Amino acid sequence: MAFLQTPLSQNQRFPTKLPHHANNSGVISRNISFTRPLSIRGLRIVRSSGQNEALVDSSPQIFDVPLLSCSEAIEMLKVNRAKQKSKQQYLAMYSSVFGGITTDPAAMVIPLDDHMVHRGHGVFDTAAIVDGYLYELDQHLDRIIRSASMAKIKLPYGRESLRKILIQTVSASKCKKGSLRYWLSAGGGDFQLSPSGCHEPAFYAIVIQDESPFVSKGIKVVTSSIPIKPPQFATMKSVNYLPNVLSKMEAEENGAYAAIWLDADGFIAEGPNMNVAFITKTKELLMPLFDKILSGCTAKRVLSLAEALVREGKLHGIRVGNVTVEEGKRAEEMMLIGSGVLVKPVLQWDDQVIGNGKEGPISEALLDLLLKDMKFGPSNVRVPVPY
Ligand SMILES: Cc1ncc(COP(=O)(O)O)c(C=O)c1O
Repeated sequence: MAFLQTPLSQNQRFPTKLPHHANNSGVISRNISFTRPLSIRGLRIVRSSGQNEALVDSSPQIFDVPLLSCSEAIEMLKVNRAKQKSKQQYLAMYSSVFGGITTDPAAMVIPLDDHMVHRGHGVFDTAAIVDGYLYELDQHLDRIIRSASMAKIKLPYGRESLRKILIQTVSASKCKKGSLRYWLSAGGGDFQLSPSGCHEPAFYAIVIQDESPFVSKGIKVVTSSIPIKPPQFATMKSVNYLPNVLSKMEAEENGAYAAIWLDADGFIAEGPNMNVAFITKTKELLMPLFDKILSGCTAKRVLSLAEALVREGKLHGIRVGNVTVEEGKRAEEMMLIGSGVLVKPVLQWDDQVIGNGKEGPISEALLDLLLKDMKFGPSNVRVPVPY
């Protein structure tokens, strides 16, 4: 595949931005004969042996692309990582491809021929790391296994091994506050559509440190014009998040935090990476059914924690069912719920101010219950990490 045949010597220094040198014969392939160069508005038609005629940018920098040895490529990965000033710190990664954990961000890469990369044939999930505990690890693990089964991805190891790997990766990272993200993929093998050439399924996990303080300020949402995924795909957490990305971008372009999807029947569905819930005027907690959307681990936990508010008389009931846009927009409170946002009050949806336009008491109480659960909840939602 490589058309540049001469590797740079180990000690030769090279820039990451390619220089515009006219000639760098040291890196030009010797087995490609360029013949009959023609110029068409700055482009040249070139023919190389065994290749079809192609239009090529006539600017000379293409000849400056270096051919790297493995160690040089790794060196450049390190240089690039060091240059990238990200707010997020990647503390550890597990990969079934190299069969271990690395704490060097430069090595946190996955193969290009992985079916997840070039065909989207992968599923993923997360778990928050709070004070050295993994919050709702088992609930998220059950979901990724369900997603994998829906995506016809075989597990590389049994559930217990996947769980141990995740805990060990967090332990190696020494991270006490942040998030764990992990992927199951059909694996690598070739670039075909069918996964039949994939050697074995792959498992990747990464630990991301997040020391940022939690912000519970209310936000604005809009209705998404990007089509919602059909139920078969919306109910699994696959890596096909392009509609979700475009929906989030649409929100940001309109000065909003998230865009809300409606389902095919016009009922309220979910946000691009969160569920939604409402407090009606009769003090009922109302949440859309999970049959056409992602079954949110946080939303389900909130439904269970909310029972305490019913016992205290702050809520008069809890209902999961179809929610019309009209019902949603005339609610007293609206909130986004998910492991990324926890419970975020919505103050405005499109042009409609929700309730009195301020963060409501029930959203606040639910957030409080969730934060307490993350810090002091029972052992079925808090898995200790042995550091
Ligand atoms: C589409 C979608 N809906 C809902 C959620 C909320 O799920 P959870 O609470 O498990 O994070 C997410 C986040 O993962 C999501 O991507």
